[in-house]
Amino acid sequence: LRGSFNPVLLNVLYGLGPENPYPNQYTECEKAAIHFLKHVDDYHVDSSRIIVSGDSCGANFATRICQLLLSRSDLPRIHSQVLIYPGLQGMDFYLPSYQQNSKVPILWRETVIYFCCLYLNKTTSVINDVLESRHVPESIRQKYRKWVHADLVPEEFKARGYRPQEPGLYQFKPNVYEEMKDILEENFSPLFAPDETISKLPQTYILTCEFDVLRDDGLLYKRRLEDNGVPVTWVHVENGFHGVAILFGYGILSFPSAGRIVRETTDYIKGL
Ligand SMILES: *[C@@H]1O[C@H](CO)[C@@H](O)[C@H](O)[C@H]1NC(C)=O
Repeated sequence: LRGSFNPVLLNVLYGLGPENPYPNQYTECEKAAIHFLKHVDDYHVDSSRIIVSGDSCGANFATRICQLLLSRSDLPRIHSQVLIYPGLQGMDFYLPSYQQNSKVPILWRETVIYFCCLYLNKTTSVINDVLESRHVPESIRQKYRKWVHADLVPEEFKARGYRPQEPGLYQFKPNVYEEMKDILEENFSPLFAPDETISKLPQTYILTCEFDVLRDDGLLYKRRLEDNGVPVTWVHVENGFHGVAILFGYGILSFPSAGRIVRETTDYIKGL
């Protein structure tokens, strides 16, 4: 990538849910990545400079694919993962960013669960129960508390209108768990991957936006990577909201924060 910047971009058009059922999206992205890695020469690509990237749920796929590819010692190693406002867990929708930005467009707190239900072809009648974590058995809650909890979010992010609040009416509902247990798997929630996986991941770029319910998913993954010795380049966009980069280049809708995201991200990639 150095010198003349002449990247080859492979965009995986995975099939969308619910017609294409979960977790096919992961299988399709993984298959495409493996095919590409096996045939880098055909694409005239330097096998030591391959980056996996995505934004929003695409960043969730990118995160998981990087984890899955670690077991493939027969393939070139991924050089870096570039994750733009990733969603990384389906356990706690009470994290500070979820509370602070619950009514911030374009991704409301309820909307996240609503999209999850549509994606997984589940009834939307469970939304309120999932918001209150009633889909999470106590054993799972305890197991992942060390990685997903408001206590792990730095204090500076709790200043803006955050009131410490746990899922107050916590009351496990087995039927809601049955319906939604997919979102507690390591595919949907790559934040739950064990340390031995996380510690092997390549250098990482994480971009978070202040006005984004998913901000803390990014912050918690950053923390896990750093705790496991993985170098992280972190860009926090103070005036950004979820999805803003998609408006880049759309005239008056092209917010300055969209320009910053494009600039910072391309600078990172060019500098690799
Ligand atoms: C989605 O769920 C409905 C009702 O449970 C079922 O009839 C349908 O076959 C499901 N669709 C897919 C693609 O699995």
